[in-house]
Amino acid sequence: MRLRRLFAVSAAGVAVVLGTTVAASAAANSGSAVAPDSLRALAANIGLRIGTAVIPFDLDHPDYQAIAAGQFSVVTPGNEMKWQVVEPAQGTFDWSGADRLVAFAEQHGQLIRGHTLLWHSQLPDWLTTGVANGTISNAQLRNLLHQHITTEVSRYKGRIWQWDVANEFFTDSNPSTINPNDFWVSHLGAGIIADAFRWAHQADPHALLFYNDYNIAGEDGTNAKSDAVFAWLKQMLAQGVPINGVGDQGHLDTQYGFSGTQMTQDLQRYASLGLKLAITEADVRTFVNNATDQVPTDHLATFAQPYEFGQMLKACLAVRQCISFTVWGFGDADSWVPGFFTGEGYATIYDVNLNPKPAYTELQQDLRLAGSGAPHRVPSGAGR
Ligand code: XIL
Repeated sequence: MRLRRLFAVSAAGVAVVLGTTVAASAAANSGSAVAPDSLRALAANIGLRIGTAVIPFDLDHPDYQAIAAGQFSVVTPGNEMKWQVVEPAQGTFDWSGADRLVAFAEQHGQLIRGHTLLWHSQLPDWLTTGVANGTISNAQLRNLLHQHITTEVSRYKGRIWQWDVANEFFTDSNPSTINPNDFWVSHLGAGIIADAFRWAHQADPHALLFYNDYNIAGEDGTNAKSDAVFAWLKQMLAQGVPINGVGDQGHLDTQYGFSGTQMTQDLQRYASLGLKLAITEADVRTFVNNATDQVPTDHLATFAQPYEFGQMLKACLAVRQCISFTVWGFGDADSWVPGFFTGEGYATIYDVNLNPKPAYTELQQDLRLAGSGAPHRVPSGAGR
């Protein structure tokens, strides 16, 4: 089976009518027919949600659908809630992928991580072109963003558990800062990030609102990015900005160093601000023979890959404010990695034929042990 990769976003729309019936049946179906040794069932013992990014239209494949429903208790649309996808032409909306995923999640007792409202990437062409040629002024840009956030968050009001409101605003330098060259920051100033949180909160006061970024839990070695994000969050919270959580994406690569101890400390530090935590896009890539088979070229990588997945999960398990652990797609054939990192792959927990890999077993064993040791998660409104 060859599934579409996470970067293949175009799809014929399948309109799914969402209604109260679906929402109401979510609770009833919750946990039904879930194997006791599945990731989701094991995680549930300590109140943790295990998640995956999903390509809604791949749910047509029965094997893909069975794993998506059977192993995970929270789902993220890989692309289908991004502005580029939901408003491809100004004023023309395509909610088909997002609606399909929301309906699927509710049918299978899963929660949803909305992703993502404010990001420099995957913006619609009409927006970036308009800004570049001056037909969209900065004042109009601000209004368009306000409208975008309000429209999208309102559409799914009460049905999204966590929203990644703002994504990837900090530089990879040491020291790290909010990137002055970011599309949004350069046009509207850094204050736009706080405004995005305020607008999202107005549209759905019960959704947990997250700041999401990569390398913000020590993955950069210096911890510079984590320091900068921590200082900024502290400042935002002091100003009353409605931020509820931090998402560390968790995109690792076996060729770089990684410290699970540092990650645990960084997660604890964010938690000390009263924030919730999530690992939002975990994957561990390595060099492979080719993009089709994705066999690691260094056999030691087959040990490092599950180890680093385990270290990330253990860091989350150690901090009770860490309420969800999400992998960025569950199968190698479906991963964004081969399309984005030349020569790399093997980044997920199932192989190209959807057989579980050692990384799957690692997560399963960690969760099994966690059931009799790790602290139960803090309340997160998950039962609403
Ligand atoms: C990726 C998707 O997986 C790809 O399909 C898309 O082409 C590009 O974006 N950080 C994020 C995610 O926050 O939204 C990105 O997802 C991966 C990096």
